[in-house]
Amino acid sequence: MLSYKFKPFPVIETERLILRRITKKDAEDIFNFRKEAEVMKYIGKPTAKSIKDVKELIVRIEDGIKANSSIAWGITFKNENRVIGTIGYHRVDREHYRAEIGYMINQPYWNQGITSEAINPVIDFGFSKMNLHSIEAKLDAANIASKKLLTKFGFIKEAYFKENYFFEGKFQDTEVCSLIRK
Ligand SMILES: CC(C)(COP(=O)(O)OP(=O)(O)OC[C@H]1O[C@@H](n2cnc3c(N)ncnc32)[C@H](O)[C@@H]1OP(=O)(O)O)[C@@H](O)C(=O)NCCC(=O)NCCS
Repeated sequence: MLSYKFKPFPVIETERLILRRITKKDAEDIFNFRKEAEVMKYIGKPTAKSIKDVKELIVRIEDGIKANSSIAWGITFKNENRVIGTIGYHRVDREHYRAEIGYMINQPYWNQGITSEAINPVIDFGFSKMNLHSIEAKLDAANIASKKLLTKFGFIKEAYFKENYFFEGKFQDTEVCSLIRK
């Protein structure tokens, strides 16, 4: 059984970024992108309607960290405290040493290599510190940016579920990609 605990919170630093713990003070920054239909298009969750929605999400994130069942980092530029995106393991399956990765970035920052820069140490952290054996990502097959990102980091398509996800009145397909520890 995987025994890693997210205490102390693992801050991650890259060339341009700091990945840090999210607090309620970040609610407005996170609202700025979770309210956008374009950012949430492939997430399968409703857009945030208010700061209160985001504060509730932050409480759930914090609960997951305390229970060691999930973790999310706020992505900020170095020298700027503003959260421009999030990345994390939304579900850690401790029994099977497996976790599900997810990420989103505020649209003005797309295609600048930010998620590539963030995902690399997060994968490394998952394998070397958390001791994961595999990492999975679930995505809408139409999400070209996410697919390209995952492929770039060695994830391969493992499964395709037809109409397994009911969201906003429609059954949607899900692609599952995974990366196995070398
Ligand atoms: C998916 C997402 C996180 C990618 O973030 P990003 O910071 O723009 O990604 P990067 O700049 O690191 O780009 C990663 C790769 O994808 C490519 N890419 C990024 N956006 C793309 C787009 N819209 N269309 C095609 N390719 C794209 C980049 O060219 C890069 O490939 P390369 O290094 O071979 O050139 C971002 O588009 C996003 O937040 N989308 C909304 C939320 C979402 O869908 N999350 C994923 C749910 S599974």
